[in-house]
Amino acid sequence: MSLNIGVIGTGAIGQEHIRRCNKVLQGGRVVAVNDINADHAAKVVINQRLEAKVYENGHDLINAPDVDAVLVTSWGPSHEEFVLSAIQAGKPVFCEKPLAVTAEGCKRIVEAEARHGKRLVQVGFMRPYDSGYRALKAVIGSGQIGEPLMLHCAHRNPEVGDSYTTDMAITDTLIHEIDVLRWLLDDDYVSVQVVFPRRTSNAYSHLKDPQIVLFETAKGTRIDVEIFVNCRYGYDIQCEVVGETGIARLPEPSSVQLRSEAKLSTSILMDWKDRFIDAYDVELQGFINDVLAGQLTGPSAWDGYAAAVTADACVAAQLSGEIVPVTMPPRPAFYNQPAG
Ligand code: NAI
Repeated sequence: MSLNIGVIGTGAIGQEHIRRCNKVLQGGRVVAVNDINADHAAKVVINQRLEAKVYENGHDLINAPDVDAVLVTSWGPSHEEFVLSAIQAGKPVFCEKPLAVTAEGCKRIVEAEARHGKRLVQVGFMRPYDSGYRALKAVIGSGQIGEPLMLHCAHRNPEVGDSYTTDMAITDTLIHEIDVLRWLLDDDYVSVQVVFPRRTSNAYSHLKDPQIVLFETAKGTRIDVEIFVNCRYGYDIQCEVVGETGIARLPEPSSVQLRSEAKLSTSILMDWKDRFIDAYDVELQGFINDVLAGQLTGPSAWDGYAAAVTADACVAAQLSGEIVPVTMPPRPAFYNQPAG
């Protein structure tokens, strides 16, 4: 069976996901699109040579009888209403992050899904689908380095524009670590503190850059994440897990080793879009396969909610300089299922 997919939001990532579904992945095809800018959606249908109907309204697309599953790739503030509408229609929905722009909005989605009685929502956190993180998780799971005690992580970006503000280091940048480290350790955060080292002279004057975010988890693991978004030299993601008997590091992206001009070198990526490019394919293929198999296993609405609660605590910690608790209600049994 082929899954008929409707896509709401035909901007940058929407177009990428449409291309994936129709050209790269197996088992699904895009039959319906919608964008608040209808001309834009119509152009995407022509440019990508889709056999897809353009809907005036996202809710009509969700309720169309020939749409089996929905991808929400519109702007963040519109995600909640479309995800709730898909749950109402009983249709599986893949929603790009953020699940909703507030923790309360994510909670409303969790509650609606629980009332429906079956998982319908996957959040577009793609790092758990990255082969490097998967290999790292397998090493931790094998017990080879013992229990994880400390994590040293970094999320570095060459530069950001004038519109990037200090809180965006959490909501736009750290948000991926917030999700993937919870998944990697199979643990939850209990507190967070943010400290600001000496500022780089390469940042706009309104931005505090770099920042160090310090988490404690329920099992007592300590995590430090350096966020440095004007580091100039490249887009660089680091994750080192210090265990009881050994250390495991996230693999570097593959790069040709070069001997030239008296140097032995490998290159570092500059564009974030290239770093997890393969993970997007695996992530969406996973969603399609899971929908066809009748059971979602990828990042859940609960994971989207946990990320939102944690991000709120991080922003509060930026402002106060204090150690801020990360307080979540207990995970409902509904979400106790194997991680994707
Ligand atoms: P974009 O601005 O290129 O595209 C968003 C599209 O949504 C636009 O065409 C806009 O007209 C449309 N739109 C806005 N409100 C709408 C509504 N109510 N109904 C229908 N269409 C509507 O933005 P981009 O970069 O594609 O990002 C979209 C979402 O994907 C964001 O939430 C972003 O955070 C997320 N994203 C996730 C990434 C990841 O690494 N997982 C990477 C890039 C984006």
